[in-house]
Amino acid sequence: MAVPPEFIEDLRQRIPLSDVIGKRVKLIRKGRRFTGLCPFHSEKTPSFSVVDDDGFYHCFGCGVHGDAISFLRETDGLDFMEAVERLADMAGIPVPHSTPQDPAKAQQRKAALDILETTTRFFQDALGRDDGQDAARYIRNRGLAAETISTFRLGYAPRGGLRAALAARGFSDADMLAAGVIRKSDRDGSLFDYFRDRVMFPIENQQGRVIAFGARALGDAQPKYLNSGEGPTFSKKTVLYGLVQAREGLRRKLPLVVAEGYMDVIAIQRSGTAAAVAPLGTALTEEQIALLWKLHDEPILCFDGDAAGQRAQMRALERILPLLTPGKSARLAVMPEGKDPDDVLRETGNDGFLKLLAVARSLVDSLWDALVGQHDLRQPESRARFWQEIRGQVRLIGNNQVRSAYGDEIESRIAAMRSAGRQQGGAAPVRRLPVRRPRAGMINRHRAVLALCLAHPQLISGIYEQLLSMESGDTGLESLKKAAIDAVIGDPDLDVAALTYHLQGLDLIEQVAALSGDEMRARLGCDPASLSSEDASRQLEELLNLVSGKSGVFSTTVQTPK
Ligand code: UTP
Ligand code: MN
Repeated sequence: MAVPPEFIEDLRQRIPLSDVIGKRVKLIRKGRRFTGLCPFHSEKTPSFSVVDDDGFYHCFGCGVHGDAISFLRETDGLDFMEAVERLADMAGIPVPHSTPQDPAKAQQRKAALDILETTTRFFQDALGRDDGQDAARYIRNRGLAAETISTFRLGYAPRGGLRAALAARGFSDADMLAAGVIRKSDRDGSLFDYFRDRVMFPIENQQGRVIAFGARALGDAQPKYLNSGEGPTFSKKTVLYGLVQAREGLRRKLPLVVAEGYMDVIAIQRSGTAAAVAPLGTALTEEQIALLWKLHDEPILCFDGDAAGQRAQMRALERILPLLTPGKSARLAVMPEGKDPDDVLRETGNDGFLKLLAVARSLVDSLWDALVGQHDLRQPESRARFWQEIRGQVRLIGNNQVRSAYGDEIESRIAAMRSAGRQQGGAAPVRRLPVRRPRAGMINRHRAVLALCLAHPQLISGIYEQLLSMESGDTGLESLKKAAIDAVIGDPDLDVAALTYHLQGLDLIEQVAALSGDEMRARLGCDPASLSSEDASRQLEELLNLVSGKSGVFSTTVQTPK
């Protein structure tokens, strides 16, 4: 059962070793090298070293040495093929041969795929039935014609009847549960159709098989979109919605747009202005970025022009920079405030949208502008801080050639800024942000707790009692905390985008914004969104202990590496 050696090499190129190891070991970058505490022997000072360019790790303490595959074998107990599969999964590419899988798992996956396909047809048919007429009208009102509906296989989930229909075709409840189309009630253990009275967007893998659903409420029901949970067929972070349909446009050399929502992808695709894909309610992951670059050298990322959109831009930049390789890049298009591509197309037609794509900014311009906007460049200290930050961003670039090209570009811009400053007596173009005064220590710990929770909503349900018992004395923080807890209790699968959206709807977005930005990053040592779930959980536990003055009484579930 051989895997071609080129494929292993390809995996090494695609996935930085520090990513693989970073999931288990907290790594700190020092130039080309990452260091951390060795997972193979017990130590207090880091002697474990990882170099991405080489693809090897080495421990100067105990002498272990190896690559991504040996690491996964040693730490996760995987065999060679499983390690290769894990890496291929991270890279979002299939292993180029048929693998002998655990037969039970393979069987469950096959059943899930059959159920998802049958369910898709059931939803498609429901759109033509009487009880589907509201949904059909809704879809028509959003400007979609029959052809688009069938290309994206849109459907309607009726209020009930799916489980019975699947049972009649011989599918078992266990398989339906695994496929995520039915759920078990926490209250009485009864089984119910998970998607009810919603417009259904089937989510397909690269082979065009349905692996999950997004489901939009017809009216104002919450959440607006309900998505399948992770399962045997579906890992959200490796999937791009609309990828199969986008291929046709890409063959015709259309630009590739990355939008935020299902409807945006469909509207863009239908307009014929561009090919389009979207991540599923989260910021782009590394796997998705790698996948984008297989489709196009320079995808255009669309962002809203509001404050949340600016933060999303910065996050996207921070994700992309480390992964740049020669010839691969991205551009950033900014939509008018509060509008998404679907709105723009509807309100200003293809021309309006194409204009926005035409003025999409390069990565380097976007990076420069995003950071300029955060500093008062009239102050020499702030200018120096800006230079420090942008140089810091450039250092994130993993690829040597791209990093040095960026370095040259940024240094020449800095030089131009300095000489302009000397000529004009220091008045460089200025945009000012309000100055934030640091507040007392305790309240800042409360704020840090909340910032971590907002960036990792999946952790909230495990600690909500502790959250509720801590009282910051700040009404803004308290209402944000309660709203976040309520939202997560209402929908345990709520992701960051959906939670933010929810909080925005409650007019709490100012409070959310006040918890992000440089000050919070400095407090936590990094952007909370960039932490792994494990690391965030660990930080939360420490902070909660500090805030409550207890240690370990309500200890949170921290996942420790095996
Ligand atoms: P938006 O709220 O911007 O919705 O969420 P939209 O795509 O413009 O939808 P329409 O036009 O109102 O129908 C953007 C994306 O975030 C995810 C979905 O993927 C959505 O398309 N999302 C949003 C959720 O997963 N859950 C939610 O409750 C809301
Ligand atoms: Mn929309």
